[in-house]
Amino acid sequence: MTLLTIWPDDDPATVLTRTEDGETIADELKQLGVRFERWPVVENLPAAPTSEEVLAAYEPYVARVVENEGYLLVDALHMTPEDTEEWRTKAAEARQKFLNEHTHDDDEDRFFARGAGVFYLHANDKVHAVLCEAGDLLSVPANTTHWFDMGTRPDYVAIRFFHDEDGWVGNFTGARPADIFPDFDTLSAGRG
Ligand SMILES: [Fe+2]
Repeated sequence: MTLLTIWPDDDPATVLTRTEDGETIADELKQLGVRFERWPVVENLPAAPTSEEVLAAYEPYVARVVENEGYLLVDALHMTPEDTEEWRTKAAEARQKFLNEHTHDDDEDRFFARGAGVFYLHANDKVHAVLCEAGDLLSVPANTTHWFDMGTRPDYVAIRFFHDEDGWVGNFTGARPADIFPDFDTLSAGRG
């Protein structure tokens, strides 16, 4: 189940909102211009699916987003744990990069077909952490300050949508609020 947690941006000890209710989450995020949807999860994807396999599984849903939002490119990627030092290094590097607060010139639209990740949206003097799980689509509007945590053992399949080939480069703010707010592992472990 998706989990939304909101704090003042200078006070990670004070939880303003904590909810798993899909409609409440969608309403809160709408105020930030963020679209949040849940799609039925396709259960029989391979453990390490190709981009084509993932896109085919969600074809009608992907086509609707592409049509509505005018996307030109769509792909899918996966992080699938391997018990090797090489994988752990790769996973740690991938995680660290997007823990740094950043914006993009393009919208960042993500659908989680498997696993989970947390988007932290920094807006209106608050931090909104959305722990996304399989079936969740979240759109981070262009120029919205945010960071992303895939956890210490990244394990997910995600569909990405692009308006152009380099719109999804990060513009880093130089700040790192991720260091003081609960991380992916903490939020995942803390569910009731
Ligand atoms: Fe991002």
